[in-house]
Amino acid sequence: MAISISIWLQYLAFVLFTVFHCNAQTQPQQEPNYLRFVFNASEMPLEDSYDYIIVGGGTAGCPLAATLSTMFRVLVLERGGVGYGRPNLMTQEGFLTTLLDNPHTYDSPVQSFTSEDGVSNARGRVLGGSSAINAGFYSRADEEFFRRSGPWDLKLVNESYEWVESQIVFKPEIKTWQSAVRDGLIESGVGPYNGFSLDHKLGTKIGGSTFDPAGKRHSAADLLTLARASKIRVAIYANVERILLAPETSKSKQSAVGVVYCDQIGIHHYALLREHGEVILSAGAIGTPQLLLLSGIGPGPYLSSRGIRVFHHLPYVGQFLYDNPRNSISFVPSIPLEHSLIQVVGITDSGVYIEAASNLIPFTSPHRSGLIRTPLSPIHLTVATLISKTSGPVSSGFLRLASTDVRVNPIVRFNYFNVTVDVDRCVNGARKMGQIMRSRAFDDFKFRNWFGGREFRIVGPAMPANQMSYVEMAAFCRRTLNTIWHYHGGCVVGRVVHPSLRVIGISSLRVVDGSVFGISPGTNPQATIMMLGRYMGMKMMNERARKYQKTTESAN
Ligand SMILES: Cc1cc2nc3c(=O)[nH]c(=O)nc-3n(C[C@H](O)[C@H](O)[C@H](O)COP(=O)(O)OP(=O)(O)OC[C@H]3O[C@@H](n4cnc5c(N)ncnc54)[C@H](O)[C@@H]3O)c2cc1C
Ligand SMILES: *[C@@H]1O[C@H](CO)[C@@H](O)[C@H](O)[C@H]1NC(C)=O
Ligand SMILES: *[C@@H]1O[C@H](CO)[C@@H](O)[C@H](O)[C@H]1NC(C)=O
Ligand SMILES: *[C@@H]1O[C@H](CO)[C@@H](O)[C@H](O)[C@H]1NC(C)=O
Repeated sequence: MAISISIWLQYLAFVLFTVFHCNAQTQPQQEPNYLRFVFNASEMPLEDSYDYIIVGGGTAGCPLAATLSTMFRVLVLERGGVGYGRPNLMTQEGFLTTLLDNPHTYDSPVQSFTSEDGVSNARGRVLGGSSAINAGFYSRADEEFFRRSGPWDLKLVNESYEWVESQIVFKPEIKTWQSAVRDGLIESGVGPYNGFSLDHKLGTKIGGSTFDPAGKRHSAADLLTLARASKIRVAIYANVERILLAPETSKSKQSAVGVVYCDQIGIHHYALLREHGEVILSAGAIGTPQLLLLSGIGPGPYLSSRGIRVFHHLPYVGQFLYDNPRNSISFVPSIPLEHSLIQVVGITDSGVYIEAASNLIPFTSPHRSGLIRTPLSPIHLTVATLISKTSGPVSSGFLRLASTDVRVNPIVRFNYFNVTVDVDRCVNGARKMGQIMRSRAFDDFKFRNWFGGREFRIVGPAMPANQMSYVEMAAFCRRTLNTIWHYHGGCVVGRVVHPSLRVIGISSLRVVDGSVFGISPGTNPQATIMMLGRYMGMKMMNERARKYQKTTESAN
């Protein structure tokens, strides 16, 4: 089954590749104003100093940098390029092409990797990070997330979400497929219907989107528009290789003093901290623990065994790494459907979230061009997909280094379904998908069969006939296991960082990204990761203002 799916995906990739290479049209777009302060790393000075050095211009890094730059001198170091001007990256329709059609080079915007669990996965490598390659669904975190993590200043949390939303979040227009999913969810008992909402509420709702009504992508990179241009530098194609660390002295604890980064032509540059400055790691759940390990911060015996000098023994770096299982059921509908990424979500009370997508693949048959001209008769092939995301999860894995070259992906293992509760939740999700498939809202998508009955034309594994059987449904969960790309952890609060997100035992070093989470926030994480960037930027500025005030007071 796994093989037939991958062949199917290769086919999709091929078709999409052909379509885009034949029909790609360049639309004039307004150049984003942040490009004024984005530089190729090779143009950057060999040595310079900053108040804040942010490693990773991703989902958390961009809002954090924009915020801190209103008062301080900020450097953002991003290993990828800019997405602006690349049609597949910038449009909703380009989502699959971007994911599937990526050359294995060190500068393509998607870095694919396969975990030891055998599931292929993806990391963003472009300004905006994974928010610049994702499916765009936007929804705030659940209350339980805030209760279990933190402590949080909930007023600042709300203000930070609003800051993000005012810039890059839109109300999607739902069409045939997403409407049917909404109706099917309600019919299957996932109520109440909450209409359009960015809040996490039990029941069915339409969430926000970072694609605008014209289908154009917005991402965390757009939040750089709010930066103070005179105070910020963004270096692209800048691979940070190591955090520069100073040992403990009589005057100070061991601390970060800067970073080393390498540009595209292999030249090393030094970015150093000014007094009271900080290095902030926003390189994501894979990149941040990897960089700590490469800098000698992590499990001592492991680092020694890899020939890395131990700077600080911190046993849980790279541990408690999680990925939420995605299970799905797909079919070719009997009526043509529009293309859609996630817009509707069912928030159940049984540990799963139900979402959906429909991929429309238009192509003009070569037989129709040439002599027999039948204009405007493209063939449309649609695949409609219902998705179940297992919340949490509880099962966790870890990463370790595959190489001392930072560009090489670490070896990652998520241990999906290691803990029974994850299987239980997945089974609940699979049963819910079965119920939705049987709903009246889905009747129109069936084909008429030989005997006059109606049935689905399923693509890939079908649901077990006996959906009451836990054993069969659990087997379905394992057979259709995939990722929804919401991996998180690796630098979890309480294990690697303090609640202030400072790295335990080292001063002037923080982590601000999805690697600090022990649980995936809400139905989809990007809202909360962008909020976190803004939130931490505000917190750090307030903290510093208070400290500065204190020292001037005591000096008086
Ligand atoms: C295909 C896909 C679809 C998704 N769909 C959705 C969705 O619809 N809704 C949703 O809410 N979430 C979605 N997600 C998840 C969400 O996008 C991610 O959880 C989130 O973007 C992660 O944010 P982050 O800041 O932790 O890391 P990232 O955004 O990945 O940022 C890390 C950045 O650091 C850079 N970096 C890493 N290492 C280095 C280094 N050594 N030197 C310099 N730079 C470095 C990377 O290039 C990257 O830009 C999706 C993810 C993917 C991959
Ligand atoms: C960045 O600069 C280097 C060195 O001048 C050059 O080789 C490379 O092509 C540049 N990259 C981009 C994307 O401009
Ligand atoms: C934050 O927003 C949520 C959802 O809109 C609301 O329920 C909550 O009361 C707000 N909290 C604060 C402290 O403003
Ligand atoms: C869970 O993971 C542990 C450690 O990798 C392994 O020994 C165990 O067999 C796994 N259990 C299940 C049920 O997968």
